[in-house]
Amino acid sequence: MGKLDQARAAIADRVEVPEVAMVLGSGLGPYADSLEDARVIPYSEIPHMPLSGVSGHAGNLVVGGRGGKQVAAMQGRAHLYEGHAANVVTFGVRLLAWLGAKTLIVTNAAGGIDSALQVGDLMVISDQINLTGTSSLLGPNDEQLGPRFLDMTAAFDARLIELATSIASDQGFELKRGVYAGLLGPAYETPAEIRMLRTLGADAVGMSTVLEVLAARHMGMQVLGISCISNLAAGIGEGPLSHEDVETTTARVRSRFESLLSGVLGAM
Ligand code: HPA
Repeated sequence: MGKLDQARAAIADRVEVPEVAMVLGSGLGPYADSLEDARVIPYSEIPHMPLSGVSGHAGNLVVGGRGGKQVAAMQGRAHLYEGHAANVVTFGVRLLAWLGAKTLIVTNAAGGIDSALQVGDLMVISDQINLTGTSSLLGPNDEQLGPRFLDMTAAFDARLIELATSIASDQGFELKRGVYAGLLGPAYETPAEIRMLRTLGADAVGMSTVLEVLAARHMGMQVLGISCISNLAAGIGEGPLSHEDVETTTARVRSRFESLLSGVLGAM
């Protein structure tokens, strides 16, 4: 039995087929507590599931209902910079696809590069730049999961981007839109690196997400990405940058973030 089958077998009796998979990034995990009839499965009970040692990443799979949908939410994620391989950090996303989820909502805290972005903004991801230097699709391709050469022309679902934008507007705020660059980390960028990223077309920067999107698209999921702009990127704001500030901002915008997610789930 493959790793995905082993993990699925270990939790199958506690999980209905989720319609929507969610990855909740730094400081955004508490959203999972709002799921109805929630069942909490610690990652430690899921074979092959990597743990995250990062503050703000609880390490639970939380399954429950919201907006009339069955949701499986990853409360916290593992990162490349913790020393995991690319196919390890994406194991959770692959497992949720293997369980039957057709949509992935991926969230993160990110540094704002574009001048239109302010601390506390929510940004829907229109496209991504993978600058991690690796890929979650490395190695022999499992044709059961997806194709060898994956098309990434429309990595983020245009219909979901429009839906999220109009729900935000109904809720009285502007959902920003931009390109997310995913880097290895764990150091924040230098101002020179941020100038480079701006030249490359990045609007926001973080240390996650891009490999998960590759894995999700590989398995045919449609993807919606939401970044919480937790700080202005190095050299754009006053600096210095700290993880504490990232967590403080995500906590401050949590209620707006949560209403947006619930609105999207209800309207999908
Ligand atoms: N850079 C990289 N990752 C981040 C940042 C940042 O400025 N903010 C939150 N995650």
